Amino acid sequence: MAKPKVYSTHQLFEEARKILDSNCEMQYWTDSERPPRDEVLRRVKDKEGLVCLLTEKINEEFLRSAPKLRIASNVAVGYDNIDVDACTKRGVVVTNTPGVLDETTADFAWTLLMAVARRVAEGEALARSGNWKGWNLDQLCGADVWGKTLGIVGFGRIGRSVARRASGFQMKVIYTDAVRVSEEVEKSLNAEFRDMNSLLAEADFVSLHVPLLPETRGLFDAPKILRMKPTAFLINTSRGPVIDEAALVATLENKKIAGAALDVFENEPFIHPGLKRPNVVLTPHIASASIETRTKMAVIAANNIVALFEGQRPPNILNPNIFKK
Ligand code: DGY
Repeated sequence: MAKPKVYSTHQLFEEARKILDSNCEMQYWTDSERPPRDEVLRRVKDKEGLVCLLTEKINEEFLRSAPKLRIASNVAVGYDNIDVDACTKRGVVVTNTPGVLDETTADFAWTLLMAVARRVAEGEALARSGNWKGWNLDQLCGADVWGKTLGIVGFGRIGRSVARRASGFQMKVIYTDAVRVSEEVEKSLNAEFRDMNSLLAEADFVSLHVPLLPETRGLFDAPKILRMKPTAFLINTSRGPVIDEAALVATLENKKIAGAALDVFENEPFIHPGLKRPNVVLTPHIASASIETRTKMAVIAANNIVALFEGQRPPNILNPNIFKK
């Protein structure tokens, strides 16, 4: 029997390629740069499966170019790059890679939190510059982390993993979410629920862990950011558009908060020049970027593809209604 034709917009990792190669007729984009849109649209014309990254927009235009497509397997947990409704209408299954990146992303939220509080980027630049004149009492003094209050916005898997790490720093953990978690979970994580405004008024560190949805786009606008304490730091490892970047820049310019640490941006890979300041730590969307985790993500994406073509419901399907039709 002919194998299904699948296009992958990345060469993935060997473990994932092995799974795909033995089950599908594969074509990979192998350059280190992301593929141009035209190239992707051309490649998917005759494909039944797609493995894509969050840099690909799977929208109406895309779906029109891929009339045979049966599955779009995203190598990411976030899927705001995919118009799931449009896929569902055309019978295209959408899958993501939940679960495997929670701890790695939580590690990185902490990396950013520590880095901005303790001025690691500034210290590193000084140490490399050749201009360091030696130890001084008031040199690069930052803010303590231990014993402070950590405010977590979005208390899903990643938010909770961030909370779990706080006990080692003797921190008070408060969180907000559309739905309050059970008392049991709160107790196990030593976390207290707050409404958003109370959290912003109380937290020394505000860490964002919400998915990008119509209701979370621009969630951190000027009024919200201004509710933070002037000594507080904002950390974002979720999605860039959750923060109104222009509002954040204005807040930083006016010294209304102490700093920010951002791994994600409103219009990636563009970074607002107003964010390039000493009290802002910037990283290029790498919170889940450990070899182990990115390999697991690619393997999950490959397994989702194989499951569909073996006649099963892919384990990480986002539009299960397709199978109810
Ligand atoms: C995701 O998976 O959504 C991250 O942003 C990349 O790991």
